[in-house]
Formats: sequence, structure tokens, C-alpha cells
Amino acid sequence: MSPAATVNKEKILAVLYSAGKYAKEQPKLLGTIENKLGIKEWLESQGHEYIVTDDKEGPDSEFQKHIKDATCVITTPFHPAYLTRDIMNKAEKLKIAITAGVGSDHIDLNAANERKITVAEVTGSNVVAVAEHVIMTILNLVRNFVPAHEQIMRGEWNVAQVARNSYDVENKVIGTLGAGRIGYRVLERLQPFDPKELLYYDYQALPEAAANKVGTRRVEDLKEFLGQLDILTINAPLHEGTYHLINKETLGYMKPGAWIVNTARGAICDAQAIKDALASGHLNGYGGDVWDQQPAPANHPLRSAINNMGGGNAMTAHISGTSLDSQERYARGVKEILDNYFNNREQTLANLIVIDGQYASKAYGQR
Ligand code: NAI
Repeated sequence: MSPAATVNKEKILAVLYSAGKYAKEQPKLLGTIENKLGIKEWLESQGHEYIVTDDKEGPDSEFQKHIKDATCVITTPFHPAYLTRDIMNKAEKLKIAITAGVGSDHIDLNAANERKITVAEVTGSNVVAVAEHVIMTILNLVRNFVPAHEQIMRGEWNVAQVARNSYDVENKVIGTLGAGRIGYRVLERLQPFDPKELLYYDYQALPEAAANKVGTRRVEDLKEFLGQLDILTINAPLHEGTYHLINKETLGYMKPGAWIVNTARGAICDAQAIKDALASGHLNGYGGDVWDQQPAPANHPLRSAINNMGGGNAMTAHISGTSLDSQERYARGVKEILDNYFNNREQTLANLIVIDGQYASKAYGQR
């Protein structure tokens, strides 16, 4: 028998977002149902079955139909197919769940551990893209860019209307909640703005040399951390310990007039509490690209949240980690993870979230 004939025939299910006409215009949109992560021919040439869909909601969705006998599932945080405990129970043959990108909170990791399903992501694939988005959003909010731009598009010219709420990033106290790959890159990129102080809050301390390099100080108490900040940037995964960590009470620890940028996960912040804090003027601005429901419904509180001067909203759809450069990296990373899996090779440790019934990553909460 030839070696090729001994390879298991796998059923790979990918839930990606749809690009419609943009897929043809831009073939680098790899993470879409049309371009299929660029791995269709490769998979099919080995005899595997590859199903790609964006239909992910409800029991009659293609996702729930095909998950029943899929051995590998590929999902993406940009259009999350929630691999809940119930759905995992139906997925009798599932061996590996791969995140095309970074952030595997859409998978019930405890259930995956119980079922000994491996969860892997393409660690590092889009961390620069997100860090750049964070810097852009901080500047947008602090300089009051969005209302300034909207005024121009409306044909108006009113300097004072914008300038009354426009500040410098220089000399502000800025803190990251989570100082991993993205959080640290945000600190590196903020340093040249000459902030008053750069703080971080993380149960994992940065190595001393890394902390010194960017001039950051660790604050171990959340209340003390939030109370010092002019600007908070959130860069921790979503897990039991970060769900709604920023809520009515913890927002109260923050100084009046502070700004928050959340590109980590929507559910780390209580959206209604954010909207209320903006309306009251306690928060000056909130921005980011992550939502507690994706796609966000038309009436989501963060679509209409504004501060008491009519600005302060720098939200976008979930785009920060899906730049074309990132897509190329996470498509390549998914292929590598699958290739390792098919050939029974060890996965790169940094890509593993859970394996053999245990957490391989220290980022999903202290255990
Ligand atoms: P990472 O694993 O390198 O760093 C995460 C850090 O957060 C770790 O140092 C961890 O100890 C810390 N952390 C975890 N729980 C915490 C808590 N309760 N309090 C304080 N710190 C805590 O991960 P990376 O690459 O920096 O990504 C972070 C998150 O950003 C991802 O899990 C994902 O949710 C999000 N993300 C968003 C993207 C987007 O497109 N908006 C793209 C990529 C990642």
C-alpha cells in the first residue's frame, strides 16, 4: 500500500465570513467563504472533504448540520461560530478546532478539555494589526477625530465644536489590561508619544527587561490600576475572569473623562454600562472593533452610544485583526496546523490553547 493511501480521510468544516463581490476584486481576502483560506485544492488533492460556509446560526444552519461528522473545524473570531458544549456534544467525531486568527473564546474550552478536543489558534498572526488599530483608536478618541470628520462630510466648518473636546496623548496615564503579545506591542508603540506613565495589569508579570524597555509599571490591584488611568486599552482574552470585568462598578473606579479602547473581546465590557457612562459624561470615549454579539444587531447599544458632547464613539466592525497581511499569516498558519494534525506531528506549543484535556495556554485565566 502506498503511504498516501494510509492517510485518514478527514472532514474539515470551515465557518468564515462572506465577501461577496469583494472576493473577486481582492483575492487576498483569504479568510472568506469565497477564497476558503486558499487551502481547498491542497485539502481535496489529499482526498479530504472541505465544507466552507458562513451559515452559523441555529440548529438548521450548515454549521450545525456538518459539525455532526466533521473531524476538524475551522472558525474565525471575525464571524464566530459558537462551539458550545451542546454543539460539541453533537460533534461526535471532532478532534481539533482551529481558530483562523487569535482568540478562542467562541469555543467552550472546558467542554473541549472534557472531550479531549485540541483547540489551536494561529498565535501572533494578527497582533501587529491589532496593536496598530489600538493606537489609531486612541488617537481618534483623544483628538476627537470622528466628529471632526463627520462635520466635514456634512459641509460644515466649526473648529470650536471639535476643539472643545480634543486633547493630546502626550502626558496621559495609559494602561493595558493584559500585557501579552498585543498589550506589549501597544506599550511599545505608545512610548514615543511621551505618556506621563505606562501601566499594566496582568497576573503574569512581564520579564523585567521587557518592562524596562518600554518603561511600564505593573499595578496588581484592579481598582488602583483603573483609578490612575486617563486611557485604558484592553488586551486580554475573554474567559470566566474577564467576562464583564468592566462594568458599572469598575467603571466607577475610573477617573471622570477617561477613554477606553477594547479590541480584545466585546463581552469583557458591559455594553449598556459603557453606554450609560458615556451618556453621563463619566467616560469621554469608547472605541474598538469587538462586540458581545457578532454581527452586532442594528440596535446594539454601542452603535448609538455617544458622550455628552455628541462624540466619543470610535467603534468599527470586527476588522482590526483581519488586515490583508494578517489574513495571509493566519491562512498559512491554519494550513500548518492541519498539516501537523494530518501527519501526527506535534503542534507548535504557542499555538495550542487546550490539548489532551488540559490548558496549554496560561492566558485563559489563572488555574
Ligand atoms: P496573549 O495570550 O499573548 O496575551 C494575553 C494576556 O492577557 C496574557 O498575558 C494574560 O496573562 C493576560 N490576561 C488574561 N486574563 C487576564 C486578566 N483577567 N487580567 C489581566 N490580564 C489577563 O494574547 P494576545 O495575542 O495579546 O491577544 C489577546 C486577545 O486579543 C486575544 O485573546 C483576543 O481575544 C484578542 N484579539 C483580538 C483581535 C481583533 O481582531 N480584534 C485579533 C487578535 C486578538
